[in-house]
Amino acid sequence: MVTILAIESSCDDTSAAVMRDGVLLSNVTASQLVHEAYGGVVPELASRAHQKNIVPVVDQALKKAGVSRDELSAVAFTRGPGLMGSLLVGVSFAKGFAASLGVPMIEVNHLQGHIMAHFIREEGEEHREPSFPFLCLLVSGGNSQIVLVRSYKDMEIVGQTIDDAAGEAIDKCSKVMGLGYPGGPIIDRLARQGNPEAFEFSKPQIAGYDYSFSGLKTSFLYHLREWVQADPDFVEHHKEDLAASLEKTIVDILMKKLRQAAKDLGIKQVAVAGGVSANTGLRNAFLDHARRYGWEVFIPKFGYTTDNAAMIAMVGTYKFRDKDFCPMEAPALGECDEGSVGE
Ligand code: KG4
Repeated sequence: MVTILAIESSCDDTSAAVMRDGVLLSNVTASQLVHEAYGGVVPELASRAHQKNIVPVVDQALKKAGVSRDELSAVAFTRGPGLMGSLLVGVSFAKGFAASLGVPMIEVNHLQGHIMAHFIREEGEEHREPSFPFLCLLVSGGNSQIVLVRSYKDMEIVGQTIDDAAGEAIDKCSKVMGLGYPGGPIIDRLARQGNPEAFEFSKPQIAGYDYSFSGLKTSFLYHLREWVQADPDFVEHHKEDLAASLEKTIVDILMKKLRQAAKDLGIKQVAVAGGVSANTGLRNAFLDHARRYGWEVFIPKFGYTTDNAAMIAMVGTYKFRDKDFCPMEAPALGECDEGSVGE
């Protein structure tokens, strides 16, 4: 029996999960509301909140799972990429906890975790998972990548953003409209009531499977400035149409490259992962592609779109089977040290 405790603290969610033989027993997450007032994650405040949350979150995860500490086989933790101060809290806790129990530690790449979220099984639930190789569109606030997944540890980035991530573009456009943070869920809600053809924003012309979202962000900002000059209440009058048009542009950009990659590589199993995979327009586009192109699509449950420790436990389970443990001196890896699943 393999029982893994997993810790995730790469950004602004403190999360702990317990998994036994690949079946999730608990997944507890404390989200940090403190950042809303600042329109973005404030790293120092995030580290402090992790510090406060980590012990109660782990305690709750163990209690919910009905697992005692001495039943744990290993402690898995997110080593990076992420905010250094945030990661340090989870990494240090994992080291102390594993050392005190005398069990091995397993380091997990956060992005690999997002992709492997598709393999999480829950008691009494019907489970579908992609078979290898499959393509995964990984879209979050920090990443936009097309990943060819050959196995849980063999992942190749075939395309990625050369500037902003899709989630970052959505959040920034929401901010310039004065709609609040994080923009993703707000834009999603407004877009459902708007006309996606109302406005047109620039789309990048980039070779290969890479993405670019900075041009779209600038085009959105310049158009908005002009419109607001002519009508100071423009955003209020058109926010639904603006949100729907922005969402459509981003989804079109994402799906065009993904479609091309799937065609060229001859792959029909296509998954989506990361925070932006919660987006209704993107989810619908996946379902539409399944109908039109015969894709078998994998869309994560909402709870596994944003940061969570269940996905870290999943990778931890695979690594435990391979006895892929890490030494006590393994440091946390921030943004610059390690940026992608393929490394
Ligand atoms: O993966 P994630 O939780 O954090 C990291 O970036 O690591 O992703 C957060 C991103 C934010 O940009 C947020 O606005 C976006 O995911 N997001 C959404 C939705 N929910 C979250 N974007 C579009 N539609 C949503 N429903």
